[in-house]
Amino acid sequence: MEYVKLNNGVEMPILGFGVYQIPKEETKECVLNAIKVGYRLIDTAQSYFNESEVGDAIKECGVPRSELFITTKVWIDNYGYDKCKESVLKSLEKLKTDYIDLVLLHQPFSDYYGAYRALEDLYEEGKIRAIGVSNFYPDRLADICLFGRKVIPAVNQVETNPLNGQVKAQENMEKYGVHIEAWAPFGEGRSGMFENVTLKKIGEKYNKSVAQVILRWLIQRGVIVVCKSTHVERMEENFDVFDFKLSNEDMEEIRKLDSSDSLFFNHQDPNMVEWFDQMVGERRSKLD
Ligand SMILES: NC(=O)c1ccc[n+]([C@@H]2O[C@H](COP(=O)([O-])OP(=O)(O)OC[C@H]3O[C@@H](n4cnc5c(N)ncnc54)[C@H](OP(=O)(O)O)[C@@H]3O)[C@@H](O)[C@H]2O)c1
Repeated sequence: MEYVKLNNGVEMPILGFGVYQIPKEETKECVLNAIKVGYRLIDTAQSYFNESEVGDAIKECGVPRSELFITTKVWIDNYGYDKCKESVLKSLEKLKTDYIDLVLLHQPFSDYYGAYRALEDLYEEGKIRAIGVSNFYPDRLADICLFGRKVIPAVNQVETNPLNGQVKAQENMEKYGVHIEAWAPFGEGRSGMFENVTLKKIGEKYNKSVAQVILRWLIQRGVIVVCKSTHVERMEENFDVFDFKLSNEDMEEIRKLDSSDSLFFNHQDPNMVEWFDQMVGERRSKLD
């Protein structure tokens, strides 16, 4: 495993396992399998409703806590100083751990400033080793870096894949000392990602799959990446990306696939902000 040094000196695995959309009942087994395969970075969120099951796996896996790197994210409904603080303490309980390695603000809406101040205080109290944000586009990231309080976010987790490469966004993050982390590296298979002819052709040269080419491309760009699979053989495939290196020409070929457009949604579109507002309402009863 390769590690990335964050802006506060904390080392984070460059490749991790994400548990978004893994049903509660399957989460513990999936995380145990992923840890067995070799993943040490596990990425969950309050709004995935499976933190407790991730916690069960952390407790039972047999790998020392110090070797694991656990990320969770604070949901919009828990923004504001007091609610954020309380919610992270609940996440700690659910994750059955004394500290969380990285806590991110999940979305750039509502009172994220109040929530960020709570994360800063929890960081200073030693309950969190690093704090960051997610889905913060360059303008919002500049806002929190320049007008935020004390701690520059260590990480900004954004959708990053060959069709939405985030090259400029990465440059902007690096300017502020924020590390980019990719979600949906495969775009959840949208836009024919796994059948992409260019990625397939490149994979054939190295005897690697499309998924492996994508992960390798991100890792070579220095992008931390979390990917999800409920299948052990895919977990293994996605982990087997440290024994080859893409040439500069192949890196460039993949860069040319970039349409700089989300495969999901644009957080700056007012209709999507309304959609998030609706989602907050729908998820409220499931948050405890
Ligand atoms: N911050 C955010 O807003 C945000 C948003 C989305 C995701 N995330 C994080 O990022 C993680 C990854 O993103 P994601 O889960 O949305 O999407 P993803 O990792 O791009 O794609 C997951 C999909 O790809 C399939 N897959 C995985 N490996 C494969 C392989 N080798 N060959 C073929 N198919 C494969 C999986 O199917 P099977 O499971 O059936 O194998 C699943 O349907 C999440 O789990 C979550 O932790 C964060």
